Amino acid sequence: MSLFSTPFDPARDAALVTGAGNGIGRAIAQALVGEGVRTVFADVSAERVSAATRTSTRPELAVPWVGDLAKPEACDALLAAADAALGQVTHFVHSASPPRREADHALAVDRRTWQEMHAVNLDAGFHLARGLAKRLIAAKRPGSCLFLTSLHAGTPRNLPHYSTAKAGMAMLVKELAKTLGRHDIRVNALVPGAIAAGGFVADASLAKHIPLGRLGEAKDLAPMALTVLSNTLSAYVTGAAFVVDGGLSLTNWFEPPALDE
Ligand SMILES: NC(=O)c1ccc[n+]([C@@H]2O[C@H](COP(=O)([O-])OP(=O)(O)OC[C@H]3O[C@@H](n4cnc5c(N)ncnc54)[C@H](O)[C@@H]3O)[C@@H](O)[C@H]2O)c1
Repeated sequence: MSLFSTPFDPARDAALVTGAGNGIGRAIAQALVGEGVRTVFADVSAERVSAATRTSTRPELAVPWVGDLAKPEACDALLAAADAALGQVTHFVHSASPPRREADHALAVDRRTWQEMHAVNLDAGFHLARGLAKRLIAAKRPGSCLFLTSLHAGTPRNLPHYSTAKAGMAMLVKELAKTLGRHDIRVNALVPGAIAAGGFVADASLAKHIPLGRLGEAKDLAPMALTVLSNTLSAYVTGAAFVVDGGLSLTNWFEPPALDE
């Protein structure tokens, strides 16, 4: 039997993807639907959710949910809505993140922007993952969670609310992986590079720093996301961070060697 023929079990698996209205979250949610997995598309924008579910290959498997995940009560409402729509959620992807603006540097970012960035990335990620894990443990079912972190979990971005939220998420992945492993619930991080998606206003000149020679696209993230999420392909993988950046993070003060071609 081919290793890649059954990454998911559509009869039993169901997914919840936050930030599924746009960019990387949408690409992953639509790829899950493409594998026959019933998936909740959660996002703060009704318009984006509607477009993302409608343009899925099998819209009947895509369940829309709209709410502001900066609010704790919205996280509770999302868990209840996912229970009602899907029964047991077995796969969770946390991609929602507020927009980042270059003007919000350390001397400028206001308290509200700081709090919202942490609330959506870190607080919502924790409460949703824990809520889903408790349900999986009670049902004695395996599960898999994937958090969209960033290269800026480990290196500054001139946006301290963003880098600190991502650094917190990177540690949350390790905490949850260690705690939940004995219940067969895996927790990993996906670390995108410069992806011209929506959350990052990409300057095309950045491509010269990327060994693979181009900016990433949201669809570049989906194959690795599904591989890590899959309990058959990645059964022994937890607490890990998968960098999908075309080699961007290899950039330093040395230029690559000039090659005679
Ligand atoms: N694009 C990149 O280059 C890049 C690089 C590193 C990490 N990431 C991370 O990947 C994830 C996706 O990035 P993207 O570029 O696809 O972003 P995006 O802005 O295109 O999509 C994020 C989605 O989250 C939703 N969202 C924002 N606030 C929300 C809230 N309060 N409640 C619910 N939904 C909310 C937005 O409506 C949007 O649809 C983010 O976590 C981001 O930090 C992206």
